[in-house]
Amino acid sequence: MSDITDQVAVITGGARGIGRGIAVELARAGVDIVIGDLLSVADIAVAAAETVAEVERLGRRAIARQCDVRSEEDLGSLMTAAVDEFGRLDIVCPNAGICNLSPLTELSVEEFRRTFDINTLGMFLTVRAALPHLLEQGSGSIVATASITGLRGTTELVHYAASKAAVISMVQTMALELGPRGVRVNCILPGTVFTGISSAQMDKHGVPEEMKEQILDQVSAGTTPLGRMQTPADMGQAVVYLCQADNVTGTSINISGGAAL
Ligand SMILES: NC(=O)c1ccc[n+]([C@@H]2O[C@H](COP(=O)([O-])OP(=O)(O)OC[C@H]3O[C@@H](n4cnc5c(N)ncnc54)[C@H](O)[C@@H]3O)[C@@H](O)[C@H]2O)c1
Repeated sequence: MSDITDQVAVITGGARGIGRGIAVELARAGVDIVIGDLLSVADIAVAAAETVAEVERLGRRAIARQCDVRSEEDLGSLMTAAVDEFGRLDIVCPNAGICNLSPLTELSVEEFRRTFDINTLGMFLTVRAALPHLLEQGSGSIVATASITGLRGTTELVHYAASKAAVISMVQTMALELGPRGVRVNCILPGTVFTGISSAQMDKHGVPEEMKEQILDQVSAGTTPLGRMQTPADMGQAVVYLCQADNVTGTSINISGGAAL
């Protein structure tokens, strides 16, 4: 296992949710953090500042930069910011994503394309923006956030499940191409985590705000061998493992408590 102390990580969608869990657990392992997120949205900017503060409380450095993963220009600036501010770039976590429930008959072409633009093309563009830095260095670890829905069918999520299956596939191909050049590529497959995404899905089913987390946990407990939903920290710990595991590439780690086997 590699020591990742003093390495530098870029995390897209790192302001909150799973991205924050990745930032905090990497910081706990000694990594400095660069968050790329939609800071032009007020509550995301506030969340990003909270994540930066949490990382700094752990004794590591952190910055947050505006970045839409659909923009090559934003992504280029994000990677440059990491190198300019912290002197290097070692870990890249394409984590930004969206998920909007929609039955097949109501799913618009626009929503299908938007989901692929952010979840799939956004992952590709994030990796491509980081590559000049990683290849020049001759080392690096990329850990994308896919989903267990990329492994199996999920009702009302044909667009999302396909966008994440594509991420799992890209991880395999990228790992083949980049391994000989010192860059490993893996992904995590979260099960159910209470975040902005899952909260918005429950809005569509009219679940009251104060009951959301409890209901999600109860539903997960009933369908999960390990009896609980997952947390952002569960995801962050798996990312730390994949960054340290220097003989592992092209793989996906299922972190669903056994819900998707
Ligand atoms: N929550 C779950 O149960 C779950 C399960 C499986 C996979 N995931 C995946 O985890 C990842 C993180 O989601 P989350 O659950 O933490 O949700 P979240 O909504 O809390 O976080 C997603 C983050 O991505 C950012 N984002 C959205 N579009 C962006 C764009 N175009 N450019 C840059 N940033 C953008 C948002 O601002 C937000 O901060 C996503 O890829 C999601 O698909 C989540």
